[in-house]
Amino acid sequence: MGHKHRVRFEPVDIEIEVDEDETILDAAFRQGVMLMHGCKEGQCSACKSFLLDGDLQMERYSTFALADYENEEGYVLLCRGHAYSDLDVELINYDEDMIRTGVPIQLVNTEVAEIEELTHDIVHLRLTCVSPRELAFLPGQYADVRIPGTDHWRSFSMANTPSTDHQADFVIKRYPGGHFSGLLDGGLAVGDELDIKGPYGTFTLRHSPDRDLVLIGGGAGMAPIVSLLTHMREQGIDRKATFYYGARTARDLFYLDRMADLAAALPRFSFVPALSEETRDEGDTEQGLVTDVVDRLEGDLSGADAYLCGPPPMVEAAIELMAAKGVPEGRVFYDKFTTTASADESS
Ligand SMILES: Cc1cc2nc3c(=O)[nH]c(=O)nc-3n(C[C@H](O)[C@H](O)[C@H](O)COP(=O)(O)OP(=O)(O)OC[C@H]3O[C@@H](n4cnc5c(N)ncnc54)[C@H](O)[C@@H]3O)c2cc1C
Ligand code: FES
Repeated sequence: MGHKHRVRFEPVDIEIEVDEDETILDAAFRQGVMLMHGCKEGQCSACKSFLLDGDLQMERYSTFALADYENEEGYVLLCRGHAYSDLDVELINYDEDMIRTGVPIQLVNTEVAEIEELTHDIVHLRLTCVSPRELAFLPGQYADVRIPGTDHWRSFSMANTPSTDHQADFVIKRYPGGHFSGLLDGGLAVGDELDIKGPYGTFTLRHSPDRDLVLIGGGAGMAPIVSLLTHMREQGIDRKATFYYGARTARDLFYLDRMADLAAALPRFSFVPALSEETRDEGDTEQGLVTDVVDRLEGDLSGADAYLCGPPPMVEAAIELMAAKGVPEGRVFYDKFTTTASADESS
């Protein structure tokens, strides 16, 4: 352990103790303070904050997350930052509701219960919690899964809800050669042990009953959105909700039955699949990039909350679109499924 310092966050007036050896974000998790974050590894910029005072030094990060000029102005990434003196930090993104309700991070030993192909490259992985017997989390959050035999972790969003907290259901896109997702091609079997750690993430349903919901997802970004929608069904939350889901072709679509069940239970919910590389005549899908489809079908969204999840380029385009449609910045919630950086992408 290194020296310890005090880090004070403005304007929320919260103070934590940070060891030089840990990142400020990890220290906050440890003390139950849920700061805004996404990738936790300097890729997504969700934890970007402003250093008011003190000596903070950062590990490697992507200049997509923090441009050099921002660094020079005093912006920092809390998931990469270590304190070498007492610090004063201004949070530029924070959520009063979330910040003090952090669920403590747990390490859970699990066992693979099911591996099921959902499409040609998307797999459902179900883990059963063994010790402890459950993983506490909020709908929309994610966990880190350890790549067996290593100390490397990959993040995956839970597709289930806390009503089934003895298990964790993940929807995972398989990349051939991917250190974790590649194992879903025969490298993992039912009964294998996996460690998971969590919950992380702030992609959770905010209590604003009067506002409509616009949800936009692509690929495995289905996972946390299906968790939010299932939670709405379980809790009888009848907000108007439209889920636009982007896929390339019809063979990339999955969970159509679950969407139909949700629509039957939630009368004000509709599912709009958008296919970017295929035309279908049945009239149940839209054609085009998911963000173009939303642009075409939605007008002013200033009264809505937006939830965006999936590959970073889709999320970036959707953030811009939501701003153009009038959704205030503080009501746009997103998880970018960034990938772990290779050295040449980081500064
Ligand atoms: C907050 C968060 C939540 C996430 N939730 C999910 C989720 O629910 N489901 C899910 O499937 N993923 C999710 N991810 C992404 C996931 O954590 C991994 O990054 C991804 O599965 C790749 O890991 P890997 O070990 O298989 O590949 P790695 O070993 O990390 O990558 C190996 C190679 O595979 C290729 N590759 C990997 N990813 C991509 C990509 N996105 N695009 C193109 N090529 C790629 C590249 O060639 C790469 O060099 C999430 C990420 C974050 C930050
Ligand atoms: S959480 Fe810090 S850059 Fe993603």
